[in-house]
Amino acid sequence: MKYLSGNEIRQKYLDFFKERGHLVLPSASLIPHDDPTLLLIGAGMAPFKPYFTGKVKPPATRITTCQKCVRTGDIENVGRTARHHTYFEMLGNFSFGDYFKKEVIPWAWEFLTKVLELPADKLWITVYPKDQEAYDLWHDVCGVPAERIVKLEDNWWEITSGGPCGPDSEIHIDLGEERGCGSPDCGPGCDCGRFLELWNLVFTQYNKEPDGSYTPLQHKNIDTGLGLERVASVLQNKPSNFETDLIFPIIEYACRVSGKTYNADPKDDVSLKVIADHARSVTFMIGDGILPSNEGRGYILRRVLRRAIRHGRLLGIRKEFLVGAADLVIDMYGDHYTDLREKKSYIEKVIAMEENSFLQTLEQGTDLLNQKIDAMRKAGSTVLNGEDAFQLYDTFGFPWELTEEILEEQGFTMDKEGFEKAMEAQRERARSARNDKEGKPVLYETRHLKLGVLTVDEASKNGKVAAIFPAH
Ligand code: SER
Repeated sequence: MKYLSGNEIRQKYLDFFKERGHLVLPSASLIPHDDPTLLLIGAGMAPFKPYFTGKVKPPATRITTCQKCVRTGDIENVGRTARHHTYFEMLGNFSFGDYFKKEVIPWAWEFLTKVLELPADKLWITVYPKDQEAYDLWHDVCGVPAERIVKLEDNWWEITSGGPCGPDSEIHIDLGEERGCGSPDCGPGCDCGRFLELWNLVFTQYNKEPDGSYTPLQHKNIDTGLGLERVASVLQNKPSNFETDLIFPIIEYACRVSGKTYNADPKDDVSLKVIADHARSVTFMIGDGILPSNEGRGYILRRVLRRAIRHGRLLGIRKEFLVGAADLVIDMYGDHYTDLREKKSYIEKVIAMEENSFLQTLEQGTDLLNQKIDAMRKAGSTVLNGEDAFQLYDTFGFPWELTEEILEEQGFTMDKEGFEKAMEAQRERARSARNDKEGKPVLYETRHLKLGVLTVDEASKNGKVAAIFPAH
């Protein structure tokens, strides 16, 4: 096993599959194209759904990519575990009605053991119990001994919202007994951390329909996903993905700005990791054209960005720091994702505006929340009422998840139902204001925007003034 940088691993992967007849495509945008079922791309195969289903003809039947992915489903775990991220990269090779199991299994084995030189005797395989064909290929062709091939019922891959899916087979690496839980049942699938899943090979044979049923696809396909950060952690011999060269320089940056030391205080480490992870998401999301807003993917961006800023505060950072983190991300990733360099000043501007406006309110909002927490403590209550939570959201722009997280850190919860009610009541007020000719318009608060950092969008010169209201 030899040390390889994240950039080298990415390149070796793409080259390996190029040599095996694959078209190398750049990563698709994080914004799904023509796919209302997804807010963001969260898997390497997601941009190729129409190719798998046969709706659109692919430019080649063999494609390989390194896909940018953002997932925020378990954002609270980021920084608390070795491998949870909101941003990650997935290396993938895809067959659309071309090769199938007997090609992809030996290739995966060859890439890991010959190109990356991972120790074969540390690799474990899991297969879908009924998939004898996959089992035999691992055993007879690759020579994996039976005791390291495990049959697991959950070797089935699909996106909850539907689309192409099928049985899968995973490759795990044993990181050593000292990393494990010691249980006699410990093995791939145990979540103690000893067995690290590296690569998932999906044998895409079905389409999950909106009603939940499975229809066989016309062609059999292959969809694989190899986590770049995970492989880097193994080849760089690091205890977690955060110490790899794909992330660690951002942690070092956050240490410099905050004056903190990594590995000195577990609480600080969480914040340092959150900042490093979120800085990557924010940079790539803005680079792909997402703007902070209160809805949809814009809200996801806002939430991630504001969460990073709050963790900066927890580290004692009092000034703006996220633009510097994004600059570093652009430096680290700009050779491969060349568009980041072209969009650098735009990315900086968007972050600066959002960071600036949020910093102004963060302090006031946090003070207010702390007062409420004190009052709850005195009153012996543990639940923040929905109206108060909504006030923080509405007045201070606190993503409600942030309020919830701060509360949870101190042993409190939030009345989510009450919050939803207050939100709905506000929507209703806005609706009736729109229908009321005499009513006041609902306008975004724009007075804090610094005009100096705004630019003119040359492409949108034609506009129509719909109404003019007096300032109030
Ligand atoms: N779709 C599979 C995954 O995301 C393999 O790419 O794990």
